[in-house]
Amino acid sequence: MRRSVVAGNWKMHGVRADQARLVGALLEGAEDFACDVLVCPPFPYLLEISRQLSGSVWRLGAQDLCADPGPGAFTGEVSGTMLHDVGCTHVLVGHSERRALYAEDDALIARKFQAAQAAGLVPILCVGESLDERERGVTETVVGRQLAAVLDVAGVAALSRAIIAYEPVWAIGTGKTATVEQAQAVHAFIRGRVAVQDAMIARSVRILYGGSVKASNAAELFAQPDIDGGLVGGASLHADEFLKIGAAAP
Ligand code: PGA
Repeated sequence: MRRSVVAGNWKMHGVRADQARLVGALLEGAEDFACDVLVCPPFPYLLEISRQLSGSVWRLGAQDLCADPGPGAFTGEVSGTMLHDVGCTHVLVGHSERRALYAEDDALIARKFQAAQAAGLVPILCVGESLDERERGVTETVVGRQLAAVLDVAGVAALSRAIIAYEPVWAIGTGKTATVEQAQAVHAFIRGRVAVQDAMIARSVRILYGGSVKASNAAELFAQPDIDGGLVGGASLHADEFLKIGAAAP
């Protein structure tokens, strides 16, 4: 396990040919990254991309999973077991778009976190405040609540097999990046919250920043003491840009 991680969240972009091209370019450009690198394509492409990436440094993640381990009558859902079966090692849990557009609440996200670990996947737990919450000065309250919802159910030890991603909602896909000071402050807050329960896990848990990460701002963000890499949306759809972000991680 490397100290930092750079993960690409492709969201609902591209079709099969686009994805294959992108993966091909990532494989060609791959160097000896100092960080763990992974991509999170849409569900239908996971198996094919898993085969393409096999034997490379790239790991595979999914963007979501069913909160119920299954198997069972859950039409339209995809279980952690299935994701693991097709080669995923990671899965995003509680991305702000899931929280906002699909009404995922803290309780459901905590169940998804546990379902991921039960299936042998590393959950990447996404937390972050909206613009309104930041302006009202409740960033720490919101992020603390999102984190506690998982810790209360899964226990702090579960973080030794998980990654946290801090993504201020107002910085996602907007071109607005949190300043390094703003990001570092929330990362330090998250690590502090974990440290209250377990200092060793707090030191080792990797906390990624997400929200308009690009090649031009990655190095500065990743240089912060509590920022251990990035969860990258838009820029991860461009191989050159994404490779540069990977190369910027310590
Ligand atoms: P962005 O998305 O890099 O396009 O802001 C980040 C994310 O939603 O994970």
